[in-house]
Amino acid sequence: MLDFIFKPESIAVVGASEEEKKIGHVILKNLLTQGYAGKLFPINPKRKEILGLKCYPSVSAVGEKIDLAVIVVPAKVVPSVIKDCGEAGVKGVVVITAGFKETGEEGAKLEREILDLIKKYGIRMIGPNCLGVINTELGMNATFAPELPPKGRVSFFSQSGALGVALIDWAIGSGFGFGKFVSFGNKADLNETDFLEYFGEDEDTDIILGYIEDVKDGKRFIEVAKRVAKKKPVILIKSGATEAGARAASSHTGALAGSDRAFTEAFRKAGVIRVEGIKELFEVAEVFKSGKFPSGEKLLIVTNAGGPGIIAADTAEKNGLKLYPMSKESIEYLAEKLPPTAALYNPVDVIGDATSERYAVVLERAMVDPNVDGVCVILTPQAVTDVENVAKIMLEKSKETEKPFVGCFIGGPKVREATSYLKTNNIACYEDPLIAINAYSKLVHYVKYKHREEDEYIKFPISEEVKKEIGLMLEALRDAGVSVIGEENAMKILSLYGIEFPKRGLARTADEAVRIAEQIGYPVVMKISSPHIIHKTDVGGVKIGLKDEKEVREAFLEMTINVKRAMPGAYIKGVNIYEMVTGGKEVILGVSYDNTFGHMIMFGLGGVYVEVLKDVSFRLTPVGKREAYEMIEEIKGKKLLEGVRGEKPCDKDAIVDKILRLSQLVEEFPIIKEIDINPYLVKEVGGVALDARIIIG
Ligand code: COA
Repeated sequence: MLDFIFKPESIAVVGASEEEKKIGHVILKNLLTQGYAGKLFPINPKRKEILGLKCYPSVSAVGEKIDLAVIVVPAKVVPSVIKDCGEAGVKGVVVITAGFKETGEEGAKLEREILDLIKKYGIRMIGPNCLGVINTELGMNATFAPELPPKGRVSFFSQSGALGVALIDWAIGSGFGFGKFVSFGNKADLNETDFLEYFGEDEDTDIILGYIEDVKDGKRFIEVAKRVAKKKPVILIKSGATEAGARAASSHTGALAGSDRAFTEAFRKAGVIRVEGIKELFEVAEVFKSGKFPSGEKLLIVTNAGGPGIIAADTAEKNGLKLYPMSKESIEYLAEKLPPTAALYNPVDVIGDATSERYAVVLERAMVDPNVDGVCVILTPQAVTDVENVAKIMLEKSKETEKPFVGCFIGGPKVREATSYLKTNNIACYEDPLIAINAYSKLVHYVKYKHREEDEYIKFPISEEVKKEIGLMLEALRDAGVSVIGEENAMKILSLYGIEFPKRGLARTADEAVRIAEQIGYPVVMKISSPHIIHKTDVGGVKIGLKDEKEVREAFLEMTINVKRAMPGAYIKGVNIYEMVTGGKEVILGVSYDNTFGHMIMFGLGGVYVEVLKDVSFRLTPVGKREAYEMIEEIKGKKLLEGVRGEKPCDKDAIVDKILRLSQLVEEFPIIKEIDINPYLVKEVGGVALDARIIIG
């Protein structure tokens, strides 16, 4: 674990300086004056003493055990300093110095050099190009941010140092407590996943916050985040949704995935709560501070003002929360205790002239009522509202229950003190019902993740011979320079993994075409087969609904002539004869690939739904059974699959089966980067794919 970085017993500041404006001075001073009680060693060959501490010419000259070295010397000196740290047995280094990978090739070379050195000496490194490390519990400020934030049980890791400084300042201003903080800059060695793992194990951290721009090792990130999020909430901002991270897509599915989708899916898979900005990060963090989790989605809203109650109720419904009325007994009780003008259902409106007693009556019932899993207390400061007492009652009652309470005290100076009283006592309190309910719903969604059982991962029995056959086929195609695998080969590979296609056969002559059509049974579809023709319809290379021998013969001749005329240079392998499939609903199944997190499976309704509405869902592989069903439930057009206007429902199990098979295929053949199966016709029972494309790379 990284205790030698976050809880060091001794720290060396390499590049410590007497000059007040230098970072090396600020860091040493921060460590010396803000409460750190471990041993401190300034290192600077030019000085005998800095800030009253004995100064050493090098780390190895100290002659004592040093856990952590904070390095603030110019970039070109850093390698020699790290070597010195290695010789002296230092366990961890924080390289504040900038001028590495972020500046170009020269800097990148220097960064590789220091990385090689820390590997050689078994040192762990934060940075380079970072702000440093804080542990408020130890009063340890190993950064050049001027002050420590208040103590707390929320820890934070940040890819941006500047954002870190701003957050610390904000935390000081608003009294938001932090436990540990780290800015990790270029993350040449330790990265987001290491800090996530460490904070996950850290007994002094209840909530983990983070700001990331990218993730170094996507698979490990998901694995660690999944485990950590089961124990404590992980709330992250991911910025920088640029195309750079995503592979340029050649398939329809890849284009629909975009570049940010994989992050959304990775966070979903791992139970990470994603927020959009800094404000939301802290708003959401607040709601987790009470450590109380609702056992379900049933929220009671109690308010002294109608309007805000309605905003809260609307937001709650949008976020999937349930606003049930309280039980019959509770409502009878409220009817007795509250004035006749009060609204007794949900939201419970205690009316504008309510004092804290009325809130108390509702909270007391809510605590024991089975239709309530949590309460949002809305208050506007009206003439007789005793704001402070409402806050006191909330705290008092909340101590007697495991159900979470959140406050929404709307106003300015009149509610300020009560709001801060609640927050200091770990009860979230907001000034906007929309924000309050959004934050609360994150709590509910997190609880669902926390209690979610591990998904079921199905392994279809695919024989070794089949795998070998596919492997050889893919290799041969790749060696031949093929990246887009068309119809026939794609169908072959996919059908070996259990995706059904219509009965088919390749005819090189009209006689052969008739023979195959007769074997399949009329009517049939005919499509020209040529590696050079992608849009077959455009060159007259597709005919459907051919009913007998005569039609097939004529079609064969007509198609081959058409195509030769339109594309004289194209090599024509023959004509594919297909069973004519009718009925069913068109859906699209696909695979896309993300450089950080790997393959994603896509599902959506076909045709206009995918083209225009982009009504599709994604999951990262390996896809579990529950996830596959969720993919169907998630699309807006799912009702169309369930059967509208007397139609029979489509076979959802068949879709799930195909999703899982695709997931297994790409996990077993990572050379496959993208797949489009479009359309797949899903029927009342089973289904059949009509066209497919595979992209390798
Ligand atoms: N061991 C110990 N001390 C050394 C040394 C060595 N091998 N080599 C030089 N020093 C001393 C210097 O003599 C100097 O001390 P002095 O003030 O007594 O002369 C001190 O280290 C600092 O070196 P200096 O050359 O004065 O550099 P600086 O303080 O102007 O800048 C950095 C150093 C690291 C701050 C600067 O290079 C830098 O990277 N700044 C950007 C930092 C940043 O923004 N990081 C990212 C934040 S998110």
